[in-house]
Amino acid sequence: GAQRPRLTFLGTGYLGATYAICFAELGYEVIGFDVDEAKIAKLAAGSVPFHEPGLDELLRRNLAAGRLRFSTSYQETAEFGDVHFICVGTPQRADGMGADLSYVETAVTGLAPHLTRKALIVGKSTVPVGTAEWVEQLVGKHSSTDLGIEVAWSPEFLQEGFAVEDVLRPNRIVVGVKSEWANGMLYSAHKGVFDLAATEDREVPLVVTDFATAELVKVAANAFLATKISFINAMAEVCEVAGGDVTQLSRAIGYDPRIGNRFLQAGLGFGGACLPKDIRAFQARAQELGAGEALRFLHEVDLINLRRRTRVLTLAAELLDRRVGPAGPDLSGTRIAVLGATFKPNTDDVRDAPSLAVAAMLAKAGADVHLYDPEGNENARRTLPDLNYETSMNAAVQDADLVCVLTEWSDFRNADPVALGEIVGGRRVIDARNCLDTSLWTAAGWDYRGMGRP
Ligand code: UDX
Repeated sequence: GAQRPRLTFLGTGYLGATYAICFAELGYEVIGFDVDEAKIAKLAAGSVPFHEPGLDELLRRNLAAGRLRFSTSYQETAEFGDVHFICVGTPQRADGMGADLSYVETAVTGLAPHLTRKALIVGKSTVPVGTAEWVEQLVGKHSSTDLGIEVAWSPEFLQEGFAVEDVLRPNRIVVGVKSEWANGMLYSAHKGVFDLAATEDREVPLVVTDFATAELVKVAANAFLATKISFINAMAEVCEVAGGDVTQLSRAIGYDPRIGNRFLQAGLGFGGACLPKDIRAFQARAQELGAGEALRFLHEVDLINLRRRTRVLTLAAELLDRRVGPAGPDLSGTRIAVLGATFKPNTDDVRDAPSLAVAAMLAKAGADVHLYDPEGNENARRTLPDLNYETSMNAAVQDADLVCVLTEWSDFRNADPVALGEIVGGRRVIDARNCLDTSLWTAAGWDYRGMGRP
């Protein structure tokens, strides 16, 4: 078959490392680049620096097969690759809303001067619309013009916990290109994905479009998902005052295929490294472009999401019979078990985790918080060093006046309310993810509160 391009992935964080490893698995020759020597040493030694199911094994296999290397040298990376994917982070700016593009700038201006033949630079990071044009100018300034280096944009849609599947078997590939050559290069760079799909009798839709649309696809998808979650959480708020049950409401509307039942789980709302920061950056960018009004609803989406955290605090005060003053409830003298620190189950990621925000609020209100998370304790401790971290669910729940289930880990969903009831100080539970079997818990004598439920 035709020669496959050699691929590099700049930035071996969550995104870049996963892509580098999975594309080696698809048969490509790959270099993963990072400026962080410790990270590169770890990956080169066969260890993934974050928690993602299945990735460790793929890393070791592809290192052993010689298809995958890691490097801290721009020169080595530039000489090796035909297609260079920019996978660095675009964090929220310190000034609040917008995205910080300094890592993108560093990667592009580090790589470009070392390029010695025609190559394609592809942005993957989530960025404000307009960034691809800016990267194209940067590349023009920092590479020798007779090489004709080109730029393209190809957003990713990885979900933590499913990242390997999402790279190997994506539900679509989107590319923003300006030339047939770039289009062809990107097709070759994804041929492994299309070939795998063909052997499994699937098709991966390919959307070829312009820079602006490709950039927007990513933030639009995340804005839609965030809106869907906040929509159902808004319905939860209404259910709370009207005496309805949002879990049944969600099921009932979800049967309409135009609505669909996924991402319609009311609870503590969305967190993680993407949705919260992306909807804020999207609003900031729309504002700059003069379309701020079009995305004003995203501000409401954000507020609905944050209000769910306060709701847990209110429920805690209610269950513990504490008054809520102007500064919030006074929970001093109470012991509260917090189950869950990660922003969703099956990850160790606590970035922008609603659960951890609630734990902090409970502690601030004076409660003695004992937290347990199956994977997230270490990361949580780094963010909130002053809580009590326990090594098991039982240790966290011991003598607690209130148990708060804030992340729907299966360990918590399947916990035995009878056994737990024997070790707590008071049988009170807040099921902030609506993930427990209500009848089982009430039968075991617990005072149960869910979200958006009577
Ligand atoms: C998300 C997008 O799904 C992904 O496409 C994008 O590339 C990055 O952001 P991820 O951050 O891994 O992925 O998490 P996801 O599984 O989407 O969950 C996001 C948050 O929404 C979690 O905090 C989760 O608990 C919450 N959520 C999700 C709900 O509260 N209710 C739901 O019904 C679904």
